[in-house]
Amino acid sequence: MSDSPTTAPAAPGADWADVIVVARSEATPRIAVFELARADGGQLWEYEAGAHVDVEVGTDRLVRQYSLCGAANGPHKQYRLAVLNEPASRGGSRAMHDLAEGDTLRIAAPRNRFGITPARRHLLFAGGIGITPLLAMARTLDARGADYQLHYCARSRAEAAFVADLEHHPRVRLHFDDQPSEQRLDPAADIGEPRQDTAVYVCGPGGFMNYVLGSAADLGWPGSALHKERFSASTTTPSDDPGQGFTVRLTSTGALYPVPEDESVLDVLRAHGIAAPYSCGQGICGECIVRVRAGEPDHRDDVLTDEERADGLFTPCSSRSNTPILELEL
Ligand code: FES
Repeated sequence: MSDSPTTAPAAPGADWADVIVVARSEATPRIAVFELARADGGQLWEYEAGAHVDVEVGTDRLVRQYSLCGAANGPHKQYRLAVLNEPASRGGSRAMHDLAEGDTLRIAAPRNRFGITPARRHLLFAGGIGITPLLAMARTLDARGADYQLHYCARSRAEAAFVADLEHHPRVRLHFDDQPSEQRLDPAADIGEPRQDTAVYVCGPGGFMNYVLGSAADLGWPGSALHKERFSASTTTPSDDPGQGFTVRLTSTGALYPVPEDESVLDVLRAHGIAAPYSCGQGICGECIVRVRAGEPDHRDDVLTDEERADGLFTPCSSRSNTPILELEL
């Protein structure tokens, strides 16, 4: 996860810590690697491979999400983040790239909806900076002696981080757009036919995600086997396809809140002082998930599985309602 746009203030209810940049290096001309340690010298939170943290950075206190790419086992004195400088982003990656050793920032306790699932075999597909969570997952799978393959796709070797660590690994295959076609990702061979014992994990830019996930679906892989983490929303959000206004009712109080066509449920609830949790604000992190008690949701997220939607879960930051009233368990 990288440079998803949330603005200050930080999400309510989260556990935050002041951290110092204790080391910074350049993995590529556009990817900086940061080692972060608590300013008070204490331990950081434990986490599972695939987790990300909210980072509050810069004078505007921008909050962004970045995956943890260091080894995930054991207590942590330091966290490692790798951040791509994206000129088209809304400022988070530039603020991160302005950091030098000794600078301070705040991070929240890690969260994870992209962890390793129970499976006998694992196929990992990383596009560009999407390598960050999958690198941590590959290290964990190595430590377990698990059966896996990591496919790492990038525009060129020069733009790919961590290549020196990965290129001689027997479970890693590198695919560069500027190299001969025989080393490019081949969905038929590299994803292959569906296997019940295999979990597939995908992380990268939107076009890469759509290509890999679409190819897997075409090959017959069920959605339940495909695990994904996006950097930005692929589905329409209230701002680019507002749809109809509707009313939200909360089960705890019975209070009614009209949601205009150009505002999200989350925005409306926060404007009324409801302490609804959130982080990314665009349907990709899962922090805001609540349960629907009545009404029919119009799901517009990239985080819930089909099973979770069928189970009544809903993302107030991005999704809307197909019915005039939507009752939420809040
Ligand atoms: S705040 Fe991230 S999915 Fe809603």
